[in-house]
Amino acid sequence: MKIENIKKEFPIFDEKIQNNDLVYLDSANSSQKPKVVADKINEFYTKQFSNVGRSVHYLAVAATNLYETTRSSVQKYINAKDKNEIVFTKGATEALNLVANTLGQNYLNEGDEILITELEHHSNYVPWHFLRKSKNIKINFAEMNEDGDVSLEEIEKKITSKTKVIAITHLSNVTGAILPVKEITDLAHSKGIIVVIDGCQGAPHLKLDMQDLDCDFYAISCHKMYGPTGLGVLYGKKKWLEELPPYQGGGGMIREVKKDSISYGELPNKYEAGTMATAQVIAFDQSIKFMESIGIENIMQHEADLVEYGQELLQKNNSVKLIGSPKNKGGVLSFTLEGVHPHDIATILDEDGVAIRAGHHCCQILHDKLNIPASARASVGIYNTKEDLDILNDSINNCKKIFNLK
Ligand SMILES: Cc1ncc(COP(=O)(O)O)c(C=O)c1O
Repeated sequence: MKIENIKKEFPIFDEKIQNNDLVYLDSANSSQKPKVVADKINEFYTKQFSNVGRSVHYLAVAATNLYETTRSSVQKYINAKDKNEIVFTKGATEALNLVANTLGQNYLNEGDEILITELEHHSNYVPWHFLRKSKNIKINFAEMNEDGDVSLEEIEKKITSKTKVIAITHLSNVTGAILPVKEITDLAHSKGIIVVIDGCQGAPHLKLDMQDLDCDFYAISCHKMYGPTGLGVLYGKKKWLEELPPYQGGGGMIREVKKDSISYGELPNKYEAGTMATAQVIAFDQSIKFMESIGIENIMQHEADLVEYGQELLQKNNSVKLIGSPKNKGGVLSFTLEGVHPHDIATILDEDGVAIRAGHHCCQILHDKLNIPASARASVGIYNTKEDLDILNDSINNCKKIFNLK
């Protein structure tokens, strides 16, 4: 599929939003959905619906096969060694909670240390904070530098003999910094430290290869990958998923239940308790096929061009202050505008049909470090064009006029 034609695959771009063509620059929050994904959800509910992994009737077996097909597609897409290393969750947040909780139950002890970074989304901080409360585990922070990046050297500096886990973002949802996750993983493993990667912003934009990366856990948010909401993927190395206890109890995750004993199911069922987000999982296969039809190399090239173009535009725009200029930057352009609250920026841009996000983007530690309560963030996806960024810039200029800025 040609990248120039991508917008046509997303029905939302045929809609007028408050009489405007939509310029959607909020993909780091959640991406729009291609027709194939929406159609698959409809088809599943209207023609193929059954719960999975339970009944033996035709529909149930067919739905189970579709569900497991997505698992195989994810395995292939991220080059995991084993299909059973793919666990479906209700989001990346749940995936990260699962990891922190189960490591807390079986692996971490009082006094152990977790190393995270100042870039982390609350989803990769708060679950570790629970362990700080319940198990007296210490959290250390690798610091963000002036470029909005965290270097390998800074990570190395913050590792102590008590560090048991390094939990880091792949790509910052505020500064766009792409962290050297492979080098960090190699370093961590040389010291016997587990590596957990928050891949929410990495997975939609970067080529993934779990066997090459060798991290222990990688959390994915499907709604940012042109897929349905209510769905995440946890990649976990088989050895860890086998060793750690279940996260939630209920139907589907057990082998045998007696009054005085319970044994758990095999992987990945052990971590998929209760009725899962069946339609979302089945439709997510279409998201992967869609991304594959474009090709991750083409996606990466297209988005790198957009970021470079957008950065140049905003850098030239007086009064706009870009946040983060890391060497390796993903598709996020966060900024402030002198004296204007980010919510006002977002509201004024919205009147021009430009959808961005304003706030702390679930990264209060990062914003504290910058001494600002919030920022405005434009983030790109495969459907964006340079024209979208021109409209963004024009709309920022409208906003400046309202606030009498030069
Ligand atoms: C870096 C990062 N981590 C975690 C999350 C949470 O993902 P989910 O919405 O799938 O729970 C997000 C979503 O905004 C994110 O950007």
